[in-house]
Amino acid sequence: MRPIQVFDDKMEGSKAIARHIAHLVKRRREEHKPVVLGLATGSTPIGVYEELVRIHKNEGLSFEHVITFNLDEYYPMRPSSQQSYSWFMHHHLFNHIDVPAQNIHIPDGALAKNHIPAFCRGYEAAIKNAGGIDLQLLGIGRTGHIGFNEPPVSADSITRLVSLHPITIEDAARNFGGISFTPTEAITMGISTIMQAREIVIAGWGPNKAAIIKKAIEANIDEQIPASYLQTHASVKWVLDKEAAAELSEMTEHADA
Ligand code: GLP
Repeated sequence: MRPIQVFDDKMEGSKAIARHIAHLVKRRREEHKPVVLGLATGSTPIGVYEELVRIHKNEGLSFEHVITFNLDEYYPMRPSSQQSYSWFMHHHLFNHIDVPAQNIHIPDGALAKNHIPAFCRGYEAAIKNAGGIDLQLLGIGRTGHIGFNEPPVSADSITRLVSLHPITIEDAARNFGGISFTPTEAITMGISTIMQAREIVIAGWGPNKAAIIKKAIEANIDEQIPASYLQTHASVKWVLDKEAAAELSEMTEHADA
């Protein structure tokens, strides 16, 4: 995949990402090796998960050797709640593929607050023990956040409890029936955790993301634009639809070119 790929619509972009992930999963299976995927939530990756489920069902791609680590979870949040990222992942992906339950890792939003620091250290250790993340899938929030790393964020941040930005709370409120019911905190991998992934694929769809995507790709690296840290990653791919790419001034290659 090229560093910035622009597709006519999010369906085409989602399919390209899914094929890329499927190829990695298949290759590792043939090598009899595990593969570690970092996964994201939000509306952005839904089409990717749909296509991975289709490939599993129609083409027999197995996920038995796949280990997953999700980026983040709201706090406080019961995993069984329909608004949890745990529920989201099972609903959109895990319930429909053969990934073993013990290979799935999602930050635990139901912990007592005083247990969170130890949990976060354990999450970082589990990623390392699994061999590190091979491919991290990301979306981007309107604040420029990746995971729930809101501005300002430092490059050396790791998994921890964070406060959500008012814009993020406003965006999330539609899933919670109003701002007063929306969590104001989350547990998230840090920028350093994300940057240690061997490969990163970040997707963006629609006009609402165009301005922040331009900043993340073209502005100087800045703690006020968390996704701008990705500029220093050796293997990052931006997968965009035309609307999300609309404000980029750099020459970008069209996916069909
Ligand atoms: C949430 C998630 C992010 C995601 C962002 C964008 O805040 N924690 O990982 O990238 O939302 O959401 P959407 O994909 O719905 O635009």
